[in-house]
Amino acid sequence: MKKIGVLTSGGDAPGMNAAIRAVVRKAIYHEIQACGIYNGFQGLLDNNIKPLEVGSVGDIIHRGGTILYSARSQEFMTHTGQQRAVERLKKEGIDGLVVIGGDGSLRGASNINQLGIPTIGVPATIDNDISDVDSTIGFDTALNTVIEAIDKIRDTATSHERTYVIEVMGRNAGDIALYTGLAGGAESIIIPEKSHDFEEVIKRVTQSKLRGKKHSIIVLAEGVGDGKEYAERIQAATSFETRASVLGYIQRGGSPSARDRTLASRLGAKAVDLLMQHERGKIVGLTNNELTAHDMNRLLKKKHHINEAMYQLSKELSI
Ligand code: F6P
Repeated sequence: MKKIGVLTSGGDAPGMNAAIRAVVRKAIYHEIQACGIYNGFQGLLDNNIKPLEVGSVGDIIHRGGTILYSARSQEFMTHTGQQRAVERLKKEGIDGLVVIGGDGSLRGASNINQLGIPTIGVPATIDNDISDVDSTIGFDTALNTVIEAIDKIRDTATSHERTYVIEVMGRNAGDIALYTGLAGGAESIIIPEKSHDFEEVIKRVTQSKLRGKKHSIIVLAEGVGDGKEYAERIQAATSFETRASVLGYIQRGGSPSARDRTLASRLGAKAVDLLMQHERGKIVGLTNNELTAHDMNRLLKKKHHINEAMYQLSKELSI
């Protein structure tokens, strides 16, 4: 293993920079050259590749986003595009690749691996929608961002005795909504993984009001629907003043939490370890707090499931 390339792809996530830093420094520590591929897989096709030194990744561990940028690439979605990417890697003398990203990016990593370049995936997405790993890089930071927003909304909800529907990200996964709904003491948590009973939501909001509670909070995962429309439905059904707050892209930014920085550092370094051990086609992750290497194809076939016990608990604690 003489030269390792690293790229970030898909929606950015806080902690990606810490992972990039760990890949580069671990490689250099073991006298392996490191190079950065800018703008994700498209950057590979555009030959947007530069050597990275120890100093290139200085002073980034605390920064959100990704210094290697990210982009969606239509061309890379094609087999020809993937073959061209592999040719590019070979021409650059890159004999190992680390891909940092979410579900779609890890599938792209698997294609590169199958076409001949040893590749390791590092799961990084705020969605936490990768199976068999305790959490993806960026998830913890996003939770803290959402909780900060919920606590702020709680103030105005109380002052105006309103119900708030807070729409959070997660693409088609409900983990951000579930974890922040539980941590934020929401009356209801609406996620794509669980069937949704509007009457039950109305009943809970009404019960809170009758109990004298000054506000209600409902956390809605974007994969279920539109927060504004949902708020209008609740107001029409109850005549309670109801507003929506769509948190949007603030969930993707911010300085990564300590947990995400340590997770990213451990996973980035583990990816280089695996390449040095001539391993390939693996996705690294903490599983039951143990550093684990999962077979890419097997893992990507599995669907991430929510924590059922947490979902049940959220219902019990918000009676
Ligand atoms: O996958 C991360 C994510 O933030 C999702 O939660 C969200 O639905 C999606 O990316 C938004 O994608 P884009 O940045 O392309 O609008």
